[in-house]
Amino acid sequence: MNKKIRKILKKKNRSKIVSLTAYSKNVAQIIDKYCDIVLVGDSMANVLYGMKNTHKITLQNMIQHALSVKRGIKKSLLVVDMPKGSYKNINTAKKNAKLIMKVTKCDAVKIESNNKNFNIVKALTKIKVPVMGHIGFTPQFKRKFKLEGDTRKKIDDLLKEAKLIEKAGAFCIVLECITQNASKIITNNLNIPTIGIGSAASCDGQILVTDDMLGLSGFYPKFVKKYLSLDRLIDKSVKKYTRDVKLNKFPAKKNFLYGR
Ligand code: KIV
Repeated sequence: MNKKIRKILKKKNRSKIVSLTAYSKNVAQIIDKYCDIVLVGDSMANVLYGMKNTHKITLQNMIQHALSVKRGIKKSLLVVDMPKGSYKNINTAKKNAKLIMKVTKCDAVKIESNNKNFNIVKALTKIKVPVMGHIGFTPQFKRKFKLEGDTRKKIDDLLKEAKLIEKAGAFCIVLECITQNASKIITNNLNIPTIGIGSAASCDGQILVTDDMLGLSGFYPKFVKKYLSLDRLIDKSVKKYTRDVKLNKFPAKKNFLYGR
C-alpha cells in the first residue's frame, strides 16, 4: 500500500485529516504545506468552467488539471475525481482509472456512489487503484442539494452504503451534506476515515472547495466558512492596475530586464 495512504489510515481516531481541492499548480503549492489530501475535484465544472453542474466535465479536463496540480504537490496525497460516465461499467472504470493514474501520477481516484457501484470500487482496488468513496449528496447522481440522513431509516441506509464501500476496498470516504447524527454513526462504525463536507465535526477529516473558502467562487452554502474575500482583493488590485495604466504610472519609466 502507498505510504501516503497508510499515513491517512493511521490518522483515524488520532488526528484530523485536512483536505482541500485544487485545480492548478499555483493553488496546489500553497495548500500542499497544510493538507493531508489534495483533491482535483470535478467541482471544477461549476467553480472554474461556470457549468451548471458537474456532468459535462471530461476525463481530458480532469487529467489536464491534475497534471497542473501534481506540479505543485510535494507531500500531500493527490486524489483525482473520476468524472460522470467515466466509470459506468467495470471495463470503462478500469481503463479510465489506469489512464488517470498513469498520466497524472496521482495517488488515488474518487468515485461517487450511486448505492449500486460497489463492484466498481472492488474492481479498481483489485487492480491496485486506490479509491476514495463519496456518499450523501453526490452531484453526479443527485440533482437536489439537501441534507441527508434525517431519519433512522435514512441513517441505516447511509451506514449500509458506507460499509459496502469500505468492504469493496475504499481507503476513505467523503460524507457530503450528511446530518450530525448520521456522520457520527458512520464515522464510529467504519475502520476507514470519513472526510466531511457540509456534514459534522465528528468526521475524521474535513474537505472544502478552496475557491469557496477563499471567497472566489460566488457559491457559499451555509456550511462553507469564508476565510477570505479574495474576490474583493482581486477587484481592488485590478482597479489599482487600471488606474496606473491610465495615468501612465505603470510600467515604470526605465528599462528593466524581463525576469523575476
Ligand atoms: O468535486 C469536489 O470538489 C468534491 C468535493 C466537494 C468533495 O467532490
